[in-house]
Amino acid sequence: MNNLLRLVDCTPEEITQILDLADQLKYESRHGIAHTRLSGKSLGLIFHTASTRTRVSFETGIYQLGGQSQYLSADDMQIFNGEPVQDTARTLSRYLSGVVIRTRRQQELEAFARYSTVPIINGMTDLAHPCQVLADLMTIREKYGVLNGLNAAYVGSGNNVCNSFIVGALKMGMKVRVATPPGYGPDNIAKDFAKGNPDCEYSYSPTEAVKDADVVVTGSLLPPGEKASTVQMQKVFRGFTVSEHMLSAAKPDVLLLHSLPANRGFEITEETFEKHAEEIFEEAENRLHVQKAAMVLLMGRGAGRIEPMKKEKFE
Ligand code: CP
Repeated sequence: MNNLLRLVDCTPEEITQILDLADQLKYESRHGIAHTRLSGKSLGLIFHTASTRTRVSFETGIYQLGGQSQYLSADDMQIFNGEPVQDTARTLSRYLSGVVIRTRRQQELEAFARYSTVPIINGMTDLAHPCQVLADLMTIREKYGVLNGLNAAYVGSGNNVCNSFIVGALKMGMKVRVATPPGYGPDNIAKDFAKGNPDCEYSYSPTEAVKDADVVVTGSLLPPGEKASTVQMQKVFRGFTVSEHMLSAAKPDVLLLHSLPANRGFEITEETFEKHAEEIFEEAENRLHVQKAAMVLLMGRGAGRIEPMKKEKFE
């Protein structure tokens, strides 16, 4: 694994390796054990859209690993003035040890990765949010000890989190039921990956999807950047608000995950959000641990580094 662009590109063994290392790093962090595995490394964060969790967890994570970060708002870079992605990628590869990118277009991320000689990590695109789903898988495994064989339901919009969840959960042997409104289903990348797999089912009924679920995953119904739910969106997602009534069809001790930020009263009721807040914020914390693990595995072995030139002898 040279980059973390989409979970489709990762093997189950690589996902397990990230989750195992994340558990270890969480333990070390909680017990005050120094874990400066990326001492001297520099991480760039190019963000085209707002972020709370992704930005802060990566910046804190690289610091705890002994490295440092540079937040690069796309508005302040020459990319904003039209400098091509490939030139930005080749330039930053000469300064940095890895780059996290949040952009609206997966294609742009992949173009950057093609020209970069240092690892690129997807900080969220229109199609995929692998770091979020790695944190989800870590949180699920913490509760149940295993992933294989668990029943998961995804309720909401077929967005980037939905796409990555389908892929990540199936790769780890989970059964996935996806409930989205008509016309709001997942992207073809996820559907193609799941094609023919009996462990993946689609439905327009959230109640059907959550039946006997061990874990229910939801998230914002609004596209990134959209400020408020419109009347049209309210109509489309009527019946998709995760509530105590909906969850009564799931297993009694169901784990509820929300990728945040949450729009209470829209995709989840206030009551249900607060009842599961401990799980949801554990999931948010786990962003830090899985991303630290991904950085160590990608950046800690000198991937893409330019070897020092052979010294001339001046005798
Ligand atoms: N879940 C998530 O990616 O949060 P941010 O948009 O705050 O980074």
